[in-house]
Amino acid sequence: MIVGIGCDHGGLDLKQVVLDTIKELQIESRDFGTFTSDSVDYPDFARPVAMAVKERAVQLGILICGTGIGISIAANKVPGIRAALCADTFSAKMARAHNDANVLCLGARTLGPGLAQEIVRAFLAGKFEGGRHAARVAKIHAIETECSAASQG
Ligand code: RB5
Repeated sequence: MIVGIGCDHGGLDLKQVVLDTIKELQIESRDFGTFTSDSVDYPDFARPVAMAVKERAVQLGILICGTGIGISIAANKVPGIRAALCADTFSAKMARAHNDANVLCLGARTLGPGLAQEIVRAFLAGKFEGGRHAARVAKIHAIETECSAASQG
């Protein structure tokens, strides 16, 4: 498995913590930036990570901005992306188990590094339960398909 990681300037320090955590788990990661503390726009980092997940170049994504809000909204605009902004380990586990989330979003200004590490571990260890949840995730996909068809017609 490869995990794609991206952040804006607000998430830069936490991105390093997340990269270290993933390395400790012996999971491969791919860093999509940002790489400096210069001010940048979070959609520019949400987009390549979300596209890499969509195109299966990576299997999961982790995105970080100040609150995690902007970067999660941006990632969720990419068809097939189910990005979950999580601030606790239970939500991170359930995002995988019930929502088949393929991107975890974190707020660097709302989480301490220790909690963020635990959230990352819970997300990466989580497994989709399928069953009734698969039908619900299929309905999310149906919304995407319907809106895409409407915007083209
Ligand atoms: C950047 O200042 C900040 O707006 C961004 O990191 C994020 O919190 C947006 O949702």
